[in-house]
Amino acid sequence: MWITINRNSGISLSRQIYCEIKDMILSGSLNFEQKLPSSRTLAKELSVSRNTVLDAYNQLIAEGYLETRHGYGTIIAKVILDHQIDFKLDYTSEIRDSLHEYKQNNYIDFCSGIPELKLFPRKELSKLYKQILHDLSHLDFRYNSTAGVWKLREEISQYLFRIRGIRCSPRNIMIVSGSTQGLSLISQVLYKNNQKVIVEDPIHKGLLKVISTVGYSVVGIQVDDKGINTNLIKSIKDVSFIYTTPSHQYPLGGILPIQRRLELIKYAVENNCYIVEDDYDSEFRYEGQPISSLYELNPNKVIYIGSFSKILSPAIRMGFMLLPDDIIDDYKSLKMYSDVHTESISQYVLAEFIKNGGLEKHIFKMKKLYNRKRKYLIDILNIEFTNEFKIKGQVAGLHIVVHFYNVIFTEKLINQIYKANIRVYPIQQYAIENKAEYDHEVVLGYAHLNFDEIEQGVRMLRKIIHTN
Ligand SMILES: Cc1ncc(COP(=O)(O)O)c(C=O)c1O
Repeated sequence: MWITINRNSGISLSRQIYCEIKDMILSGSLNFEQKLPSSRTLAKELSVSRNTVLDAYNQLIAEGYLETRHGYGTIIAKVILDHQIDFKLDYTSEIRDSLHEYKQNNYIDFCSGIPELKLFPRKELSKLYKQILHDLSHLDFRYNSTAGVWKLREEISQYLFRIRGIRCSPRNIMIVSGSTQGLSLISQVLYKNNQKVIVEDPIHKGLLKVISTVGYSVVGIQVDDKGINTNLIKSIKDVSFIYTTPSHQYPLGGILPIQRRLELIKYAVENNCYIVEDDYDSEFRYEGQPISSLYELNPNKVIYIGSFSKILSPAIRMGFMLLPDDIIDDYKSLKMYSDVHTESISQYVLAEFIKNGGLEKHIFKMKKLYNRKRKYLIDILNIEFTNEFKIKGQVAGLHIVVHFYNVIFTEKLINQIYKANIRVYPIQQYAIENKAEYDHEVVLGYAHLNFDEIEQGVRMLRKIIHTN
């Protein structure tokens, strides 16, 4: 029997034998009822003790891979071969491919919503991780609160007051593994048969999927330069919640004026539904005052979702929600039976990072940089496409929307751009209906690109567009 064992691997010999035989069974290399060598023979072949082989065989018998037949020996059990799987399948390949694609980095990707990862505060956070792992009590390594680490919830409540003017109790703050998880859980908590969800059109396609996957029928309401058009929602009935990005409509970039905000709240009260306010990047506003939240207009009707993905990194998967009192219990129960709680060591680290001022310092630094990058991108657009375009949306966020007066982003044009190793994202891809209305517009995310990449990317874009 061809079994290779490695005496230096740190994995016990019986475990290695067990794994090798199991792999051969699952891949079909060993057939049903095939007899295995006796434990004594195999031990001799592999120069290991007989007990080592017996341990492996016994484990495989206990798990149903092998059977012993009296007077005959040990054979492969049938049940396995009826459910044969391709063991050569590499489950990690998909992940590796996307990482590889990223690392190759031989194209300029104007994708939206990625912060400048080269300036991720590694030094500050690694110091805090080290300190916190040292200082935590052993009890902190137990299961933690489903709602999140109290210290982080307290820090977020003060942070929100400082930078957003939001007053809320830490009791209403729930820590989630990214705002995507928050939206998914809240969609499930609020789900009732035959209810609808009103969303903005265009919208982030991933988040739309999060909502529709729960089973809702989704009603897209057209967005103009001020965000969701509230006149269009008045006649819609049986709504569970309205999903909106009022501080910086994603992707078009409008800010919802107070009249429309009040109309949304009025609608929610009269129709007994909720508003989910996705405040994904409001820290990055480069002109004027920060925009007030919808939440503060009616904390009983608005679920506020915040994220650390844009201000730090999407890799840490950390976000939070402010929940009205009446849904906290249902939410906690769902989160409990979903993933118990969001990873808590990082929560302690983040709490300390907010407390010692590190997070706000980082945001301040990034805000200055992103503002420079934004201006640079617009300068280069002006040089390469003078008078051929306009910018849509507010002076905020990590992306801009560019409307080219005489360009239509057909599939053919987008393919040509891709072939030139540039990635741009047509607004049509975000639209639910009336896609044609947006065929002159693309999203250009810039925060993660360096100045050279921004310049090269726009130059290349001009070359392709102008040769068409
Ligand atoms: C509008 C909007 N909301 C939410 C998210 C998701 O954030 P998170 O990484 O916290 O799940 C994104 C991510 O790009 C986004 O663009």
